[in-house]
Amino acid sequence: MASAANVLIAGDLVAFPTETVYGLGADASNSAGVARIYSVKGRPTDHPLIVHIASMERMGDWASDVPEYAITLARNFWPGPMTLVLKRSELAGDFVTGGQDTVGVRVPNHVIALALLEAFDKAGGMGVAAPSANRFGHVSPTTASAVVEELADYFSKDDLVLDGGACAVGVESTIIDCTGLLPRVLRPGAISTAMIEEVTGLDVLSPNGVDEIRVSGSLENHYAPVAKVLLCEVPVAGQGFIAHKNIETPSGVIRLASPGDDEEFARVLYSALRDADARGLSEVVVVQPIGIGIAVAIRDRLARAANGR
Ligand code: TXA
Ligand code: MG
Repeated sequence: MASAANVLIAGDLVAFPTETVYGLGADASNSAGVARIYSVKGRPTDHPLIVHIASMERMGDWASDVPEYAITLARNFWPGPMTLVLKRSELAGDFVTGGQDTVGVRVPNHVIALALLEAFDKAGGMGVAAPSANRFGHVSPTTASAVVEELADYFSKDDLVLDGGACAVGVESTIIDCTGLLPRVLRPGAISTAMIEEVTGLDVLSPNGVDEIRVSGSLENHYAPVAKVLLCEVPVAGQGFIAHKNIETPSGVIRLASPGDDEEFARVLYSALRDADARGLSEVVVVQPIGIGIAVAIRDRLARAANGR
């Protein structure tokens, strides 16, 4: 972990596991390091990055005017699959925030991520900027081998990938805009609207009217495999198929995943979509989970994946 932290301090990249998906990390106060994230991902530079911190005590380094409800959220759900968008401090440079006056911060809940962030802290670092470790617009990686598959061609020799096995949650963090009087969910995730309302006692706003540039994950075409994702069809022979395990596989259809519940659905979804591409399938039919909770996040990602690349 100490040497991985030094890789970051030197301005190189460390891809690391979190509970949601793998991140592609750089020292968030090093503009050259952060610039490499954008080139390795092929991501437009006006799309902001999430700053990962070791504990909520570091929130005040990156953010200013933190409202009370944001502190309540941090206390309840960090470390965890939640990103808070806050008014930025002077430390949060334009090269991290995409030139906006806000910054996204998160304390991830994964032993390796936390150990890396703590070692980075000890080495004098302030925070690790990390988007999902995929090429822009593609499916987020939930295993170290998926990171290598996505980015190997773009890494340089001092970059590092930490292998922490498969991610436990499987879809990206809930992003909550905390710059207004009420929290607003910009991207649904494992921390649901009901959970936010319960701990804050506030009404939660939906993402209506959000400028799409601010959340690249909210672009209509995102999270997409090469295979075409179909959401409202009965699968036919030769197509891939992802559905809850109580739904049968029609003959000739290639079953890619059979999750037993919504949590497992989230956990296996991205690897199943990658599997479709690995098998060279041209179409995947997905029966979406109904209901609230993490099913909302799954449907959100599937709708974008279905819009294609
Ligand atoms: O679970 C996650 O959040 C993962 C892991 C690695 O932490 N990270 C992740 O990062 O999904 P990324 O960059 O792939 O998606 C983060 C989203 C982007 O759509 C970005 O535009 C948005 O967060 N974002 C970051 N800072 C923001 C800000 N200040 N205001 C609005 N949106 C912001
Ligand atoms: Mg992403």
